[in-house]
Amino acid sequence: MEVADAPLAAVLGMLRGHGPSPKVPPPRVASVRPPGAGYPFDDWAEIYDRVYADLTHDVPFYVQLALANAGPVLELGCGTGRVSLAMAEAGVNVLGIDISPLMAARANAKAAARGLGWRAAFQADDMRTLRLERTFGLVVMPFRSLQLVTTPSDQRAVLATAAAHLATGGTLAFDVFNPDPDLLADTGDEPFVDSIVVQPDGSVVIVHATNRWDHAEQLSHPHLWIEEHTGEGVTLAVHEREFAMRYVHVGEMRDMLADAGFEVEAVYGGFDGEPVEDDCDDLAFVARRG
Ligand SMILES: C[S@@+](CC[C@H](N)C(=O)[O-])C[C@H]1O[C@@H](n2cnc3c(N)ncnc32)[C@H](O)[C@@H]1O
Repeated sequence: MEVADAPLAAVLGMLRGHGPSPKVPPPRVASVRPPGAGYPFDDWAEIYDRVYADLTHDVPFYVQLALANAGPVLELGCGTGRVSLAMAEAGVNVLGIDISPLMAARANAKAAARGLGWRAAFQADDMRTLRLERTFGLVVMPFRSLQLVTTPSDQRAVLATAAAHLATGGTLAFDVFNPDPDLLADTGDEPFVDSIVVQPDGSVVIVHATNRWDHAEQLSHPHLWIEEHTGEGVTLAVHEREFAMRYVHVGEMRDMLADAGFEVEAVYGGFDGEPVEDDCDDLAFVARRG
C-alpha cells in the first residue's frame, strides 16, 4: 500500500501526530452543511467527541497546572469540555467559553450528566472580545484553539482577553502545532487517513484529510471527510469539514505574548516537559501575567 507523507499527517491531526497514513480516495459525501447555516463550529459539536475520543495525551498537563494554580480556571475555546471537565473532576472550578452555542450546550450537558454542573459551567462567547470583569487563577487554550482565529490581530486580541482575565502573576497555558520545516515544505495534496478511532460502542470513526498551505498568510487549510461506520463496516454517515488554522513560530509567539503583558515561563515540545525540537508535534506555552 502506498503511504502519504508523514509530516503532513502530523499537522492535520487537528491534527495529531499519527504515523504514515495510507493513501485513499476521499469518500463520497452524503451531505454537507452549507456555510453560514449556524455559528462557527456548531457543525462540529455533534461529532467532536467521537472524532477526538482518543485525544487524552494533553489532559494531565492542563489538570496539573489547574491544581498548581489557586483559583478557578477559564478555558477559551472549550469545545465540548474535554479538558475543563477533567479539571472539574480533579476538584477545580472551571468556566469554559466557546464561540459555538452548540459546543457550550454539549459541554453543559456532559457536566450535568457527570454531576459536575456545580463545578463546571460553559457559555457561548467570542474569545477575541470576551470581558467578564473578573479574574481567574489560570487561563488555558488546549488543543490549538488559538490557531482557529486566523489573523495576527485576532490572535493578539485573544491574548489580550487572556490578560484581562488574569491578575498579576496569573498563568496562561496553551498549545499550538509546531510549524516544523518538513511539515511546511510538504505541499502534497494527496488525501491521507488522519485517524481511525474505535468508539466505546465498537463503532469506528475514520478521518480522511487533505491540507493546503498558504504560507503568505501562515495558514493551513485542512479539509476533512469524517466517516462513521458500525463495527461491521457499514457506513452510517459521512461528514465534510473545512477550516483554517494560523501557524505561529516560537519567536512570533514570544513577541505576541510580551506585547500582551506576559512573561514566558516555559515553552515545551510536548506535554511532558520535553524540549522543543524541529520535528516535535506540539508547542506548549506557559506564561505569567506581568
Ligand atoms: C480544536 S477545538 C478545541 C476544543 C477544546 N479546547 C479541547 O481541547 O478539546 C477549538 C475550539 O475553539 C472554538 N473557537 C474557535 N474560535 C473561537 C472564538 N473566536 N471564540 C471562542 N471559541 C472559539 C471552536 O468552536 C472549538 O470548539
